[in-house]
Amino acid sequence: MDSTPLTDVPAAPAPRAPRRRLDRTGPFEVGDKVQLADTKNRMHTITLREGGEFHSHRGVLAHDALIGQDDGIVVEDSRGTLYQALRPLYADYMLSMPRGAAIIYPKDSAQILMWGDIFPGARVLEAGVGSGGLTTALLRAVGPEGSVRSIERREDFAQVARENVETYFGAPHPAWDLEIGDFQDVALRLAAEGPVADRVVLDMLAPWECVDAAATALVSGGVFLAYVATVTQLSRTAEALRAHGEFVEPSAWESFVRPWHLEGLAVRPEHRMNAHTGFLITARRAAHGTRALTRFRRPAPGSQDAAELDHPDNEGFGGSEGVWSAEDLGERGVAPRKIKRALRDIRQGRDR
Ligand SMILES: C[S@@+](CC[C@H](N)C(=O)[O-])C[C@H]1O[C@@H](n2cnc3c(N)ncnc32)[C@H](O)[C@@H]1O
Repeated sequence: MDSTPLTDVPAAPAPRAPRRRLDRTGPFEVGDKVQLADTKNRMHTITLREGGEFHSHRGVLAHDALIGQDDGIVVEDSRGTLYQALRPLYADYMLSMPRGAAIIYPKDSAQILMWGDIFPGARVLEAGVGSGGLTTALLRAVGPEGSVRSIERREDFAQVARENVETYFGAPHPAWDLEIGDFQDVALRLAAEGPVADRVVLDMLAPWECVDAAATALVSGGVFLAYVATVTQLSRTAEALRAHGEFVEPSAWESFVRPWHLEGLAVRPEHRMNAHTGFLITARRAAHGTRALTRFRRPAPGSQDAAELDHPDNEGFGGSEGVWSAEDLGERGVAPRKIKRALRDIRQGRDR
């Protein structure tokens, strides 16, 4: 047996992260995005170009002072202003990327990856794509062995998403497929010959309309997850999952992240926080053809009452039968000029 002490064995070099545009480490290169923070924590994001310059009201910083340098160095502009230079993290990119539709915030995408059980190699079916924020998180989690098939009904949003995702990864992602259409139609077509998805992730106004198609596309034991903004959407999704019969009892929650102020002895919660973003609801798919065991519970009086659900106060939320409109659920339209501005900003490498 080899008795060489382990301390004498040279350590194996740590494997390097794949060198994709933002998903990588190493010295700064031309084309990289770099975040510059001054001593007041004012942030500027630049995209490195040979001979490029960053101008602020304070002075000028040559991009060449960063190219080839280590991530995390401190640089000085022509007037002596110091900047901490760092490659943006995924969460930084997500919060600043140009958008048409509202994105899912990092605190929620973190929950989605964990409780949606998005594993390396998973086959994920996602809708809608919106600005591509969550898509990027899903692609990072499934890795090169997995796949993300995204379905978006609006061509203009799909274009913003495609450009955001490709900007993040620096090229079209080999595990990503984006299709224009309604989830209900596309998922059923994809699953014509059998289930195709380990996980279904929905971020849209009416996920309850997609429950049947999701059940067809999901493998037995797969996970359904939806992100919704309002209680009425949450309730309708839960009831649709129960009514389907082949989903195990759904669970729902919301998360709050309260940032803290850290300064000497003044360590306390920040005064402000984003109190509400959305709710998450998940349910496991029972084996195909198997009715899921339901938990015995006595319904709360009135909770299933058609007369109550159809009361005029609930108009617009559909009650048991009715229809809903996007405005009923608090969605505001997105003006075409907002989409044009988002595309222009992505192409110019600008952050918001
Ligand atoms: C809030 S956005 C999604 C944002 C996205 N998760 C992100 O992080 O950037 C909702 C999107 O769902 C799309 N959508 C709504 N219903 C849909 C359906 N049934 N099938 C496909 N897309 C749908 C809308 O067009 C919209 O782009």
